[in-house]
Amino acid sequence: MADLAVVDLDTFLTGKIDVTHKPKVVGVSLLTGKTESLTYPEFVLLSTLNSNTWVSQREILTKFEVAQSQLNKLAEHGFILSDGDDSLAAELRLRDSRIDKLHWNPYQAFAYMRNRWLDAGPDAQAPSDLMGYLDDYRQLINVYGNPPAHFHEVSSKRRVELPQTIQNEGIFKTLLARQTARYFSTDKQLPAADLSCLLMYTFGYHGTYTLTDGYTVLKKTSPSGGSLHPIEAYPLILNVEGVESGLYHYNIRDHCLDLVKELTTFEGRALAKQMTAAQEYFHSANVLVVLTGRFDRNFWKYRNHQKALKVVEMDAAHLSQTFYLIGTELGLGTFTTAAIVDDIIEESLDLPIFVEGAMMIVGCGYPINEETPGGFDFNPRAR
Ligand SMILES: Cc1cc2nc3c(=O)[nH]c(=O)nc-3n(C[C@H](O)[C@H](O)[C@H](O)COP(=O)(O)O)c2cc1C
Repeated sequence: MADLAVVDLDTFLTGKIDVTHKPKVVGVSLLTGKTESLTYPEFVLLSTLNSNTWVSQREILTKFEVAQSQLNKLAEHGFILSDGDDSLAAELRLRDSRIDKLHWNPYQAFAYMRNRWLDAGPDAQAPSDLMGYLDDYRQLINVYGNPPAHFHEVSSKRRVELPQTIQNEGIFKTLLARQTARYFSTDKQLPAADLSCLLMYTFGYHGTYTLTDGYTVLKKTSPSGGSLHPIEAYPLILNVEGVESGLYHYNIRDHCLDLVKELTTFEGRALAKQMTAAQEYFHSANVLVVLTGRFDRNFWKYRNHQKALKVVEMDAAHLSQTFYLIGTELGLGTFTTAAIVDDIIEESLDLPIFVEGAMMIVGCGYPINEETPGGFDFNPRAR
């Protein structure tokens, strides 16, 4: 239910504006994720129909106060399923069956569909609140005031001082050097050996463990919920020595690239910009890697589970940090972005909704530091 502001016509004609709020029924379709207003008879129909039984249109039209056009609208938006032959009806039936067959928790399926970001068209603006521009922060502070404090304090019964620790070598050096790069040089090619290393040590597998007779899991450099490793990597190659630009799938078993879509570098950069929600900088990278989650693989174990979707998302986030660290170790600038346009990615990779979905995009190249947004000064912590 939502509020609908209604101007009272009688008082409006006497020169006054009298706004009352009337309740309005709004439906959110699990199968499309979209919100639609419902008339009261449509609401009555939806709350009466049994979700597991097919009913003839004739019966619905006789029993309920809805017209054929309303029935068509409800079917188009996925509030009811139709047995029609058209491709939309077939796609919605498929999505409906996947929710059951793949063991989606219905609330998770709902959250997933609502949280997808859909293409806003060629004039789409970058989402300023997910960007790092200094000016945006000035505006944010002007409008919202200061954010909650950096450091969180709890009421404590006792404080324990910790020994001083200063580490500058090995993994510590890499961790301290890690940072997000944004603008990249388009002149310098990434050696294929570096791409190979990034893919192998971020997404590749380094062996197997046998958990029980006939059931093995893969050993990778990042942890994964249930050891299922459901994240797939799709490199969008834009400037790599000896590798044609295009959209590929990283084949983890054979450690190779399988071409999904041939693209010129120009087309690849345009696609990169579209996928990263029109952000200005990431499409100058040498390679972007689209991370997707295979829900069917994770849900094999975490059936109808409230945490399952979160686990797939967190798996992707772990891989993102591993990608940063390996890129840093190789002397590359790396980035991650959650500001991605799901339907562009789904279409480019032909991802079946509810089976495999976009999670985030990482990428790397040779940063042009002076153009990094903000050009922030780093002040090391006083020890
Ligand atoms: C989940 C997540 C989403 C992010 N999304 C974006 C993004 O959309 N655009 C962007 O420019 N940076 C994005 N970043 C990078 C952050 O802005 C960056 O990590 C932060 O400013 C701290 O800087 P540092 O990584 O250099 O330490 C994202 C980082 C994370 C972890």
